[in-house]
Amino acid sequence: MDKRWLVMRVAAILVIVHLVSCNDNSIDSSKPAASLYEPSWTYKCIPDEGCQRSESPQPGVHANMSSLTFESMDLCRTVCGRFGGLWPRPITAALSTQTVKIHPNYLRFDLSNAPAETREVLVQMTQVTTQNLIDECDGNVTEIVETPVVVYITVKTSNLNLTWDTDEQYRLDVQSKEKNAVIHIVAETVYGARHGLETFSQLVSADKPDYTDHYKCSLRLVSGAKIWDRPVYKYRGFLLDTSRNFIPMDDIKRMVDAMATVKMNVFHWHVTDSHSFPLESRRVPQFTRYGAYSAYDIYTVDEVKEFIHYAKVRGVRVVIEIDSPAHAGNGWQWGKEYGFGDLAVCVNAKAWRNLCIQPPCGQLNPANPAMYRVLRDLYRDLAEILPKPALFHVGGDEVFFNCWNSSEEITTYMKNQGYETDVEGFIKLWGEFHEKALKIWDEELADAGHAAGQPVMIWSSELTQAHRIHKYLNKDRYVIEVWEPVNSGLLPQLIRMGYNTVSVPKDIWYLDHGFWGNTKYSNWRKMYAHTLPRDPNVLGGEVAMWSEYVDSQALDTRVWPRAAAVAERLWADPAGAAGGAGAAEARLNRLRSRLAARGVRSDVLAPAWCAQHDQHCL
Ligand SMILES: *[C@@H]1O[C@H](CO)[C@@H](O)[C@H](O)[C@H]1NC(C)=O
Ligand SMILES: *[C@@H]1O[C@H](CO)[C@@H](O)[C@H](O)[C@H]1NC(C)=O
Ligand SMILES: *[C@@H]1O[C@H](CO)[C@@H](O)[C@H](O)[C@H]1NC(C)=O
Ligand SMILES: *[C@@H]1O[C@H](CO)[C@@H](O)[C@H](O)[C@H]1NC(C)=O
Repeated sequence: MDKRWLVMRVAAILVIVHLVSCNDNSIDSSKPAASLYEPSWTYKCIPDEGCQRSESPQPGVHANMSSLTFESMDLCRTVCGRFGGLWPRPITAALSTQTVKIHPNYLRFDLSNAPAETREVLVQMTQVTTQNLIDECDGNVTEIVETPVVVYITVKTSNLNLTWDTDEQYRLDVQSKEKNAVIHIVAETVYGARHGLETFSQLVSADKPDYTDHYKCSLRLVSGAKIWDRPVYKYRGFLLDTSRNFIPMDDIKRMVDAMATVKMNVFHWHVTDSHSFPLESRRVPQFTRYGAYSAYDIYTVDEVKEFIHYAKVRGVRVVIEIDSPAHAGNGWQWGKEYGFGDLAVCVNAKAWRNLCIQPPCGQLNPANPAMYRVLRDLYRDLAEILPKPALFHVGGDEVFFNCWNSSEEITTYMKNQGYETDVEGFIKLWGEFHEKALKIWDEELADAGHAAGQPVMIWSSELTQAHRIHKYLNKDRYVIEVWEPVNSGLLPQLIRMGYNTVSVPKDIWYLDHGFWGNTKYSNWRKMYAHTLPRDPNVLGGEVAMWSEYVDSQALDTRVWPRAAAVAERLWADPAGAAGGAGAAEARLNRLRSRLAARGVRSDVLAPAWCAQHDQHCL
């Protein structure tokens, strides 16, 4: 890593020198041209209409504005409407339209009502909150007020486990007088308290008028608020694929920052596929040696551990997926060289159309006992890294029978097992793989000190069809992640059969659709409009960023704000007219500028004129 950093720095210095030398005589475009733009707009909050730009530019510094008129659109949105600038919207909220000026230097968090075991992580959570407030003003809150702001955090249990049974509800109460502001956050768990802190930060906005002659930024807090909030769905996931194209750790962390902003709680890390294997395994270094795109495109064990903690502080559970038995190739191709035989078959086969769904091909070799020994070593590494209780995703999708059928070793093994080489025979082989893999996972998890019987996630497939699934997958162990299109009957069938499910309808919640083949792009409105069944067997849903056609260059705008639309659907699931995109757009615009302040480049929703005139472009 160090070397590349150095190269980049040298390159950056050269670029800067170059830019400076050709910019000598040019205009500084970061400053508005005073003579062309003076004076500036104001924004008024009008009940039922949202924030509207003034009809004409208002003169000078706006010292005497009537109430509900603001110099900054962000501040207007923060107080305007029933849910102000909150995203996702809380279940219930009463917000004042008044604000008080605050400054981070006079902000204090009181943790005396939180169990000692929770304080370390709470302190880190509050540090994130404070940084988010400072970022509202691009890192410099120029207007200093000495109003003391105290946030009292009450946490009832010392349980730090993050699972889909974690109680995430919180109450948030804001009261301020002229001389101080008092905030109470009450939650069962630290994760509920974190959500409360996030909502608190969303009650604060920069007041940043666009004067041309000087930079000025103050922070304003909604002066009174009463909020009670909890999620509708337990599982609110974002999937990121880092195998088709590598995504650097800093970018992944930025995705988690944005997830925390919208209260998503599961980062589903599709870390490996047939294309590359970027995850370091201490027991099997060959995985990255043969599987990484380059020496830089690797997640080291230390980075992964640190990342898992980073996510936890942001209320996000990391689920690692090692896709198997299909979608596995690069990283597994060294078996023969080491005397282990073929660990995977069809790897990188040239005539790929016969052997897999997309190039490069590769499927694990279930006829080779050495493959299971290597898998055991990998599972052991994961069991040592994952937080307790561990959640693992075994992949399990898109097994291509022709690939296995092309291997004499595998068809011979099947004959010895008494399996036909027809479809049902291959299904049996596939089922046998998952049975063995689960047993190995359980043994390694137990050895690493985890409690028994942890759930394992698996994609829907031929194997999970209603007439077969019960033969191969135990409903007390597997959670089925259903990616069939929305008109498929599989999800309701599995729910009826008692399987826990996570829903990811590919024709609506796949973020890569619209970038290849005949797939159609879903805009945020379409993603927002989709609802899931309210059923105890539907844990929740996920929005998925497959990385064939994205890398760090365009990641942010491909994912945001669309993932935020899904986040609100899963957190609040607003019904009726309030559940429509029209009612949400102003808040989503507010979220967009909040994400920008936090370093996430969220795509634009509409022309800026529409963003200055709420509801005029619906
Ligand atoms: C603006 O407010 C200040 C202080 O409240 C007052 O002294 C001043 O006369 C006001 N100016 C206008 C134009 O209303
Ligand atoms: C913050 O802004 C003030 C006022 O513009 C300026 O004096 C100060 O140097 C800035 N501080 C930083 C750290 O940029
Ligand atoms: C937290 O998880 C661990 C590991 O699975 C388990 O042993 C423990 O009982 C859990 N704690 C609570 C309070 O549920
Ligand atoms: C596997 O190959 C055999 C021999 O070519 C063929 O008869 C059989 O139909 C194939 N099985 C599948 C599931 O395609």
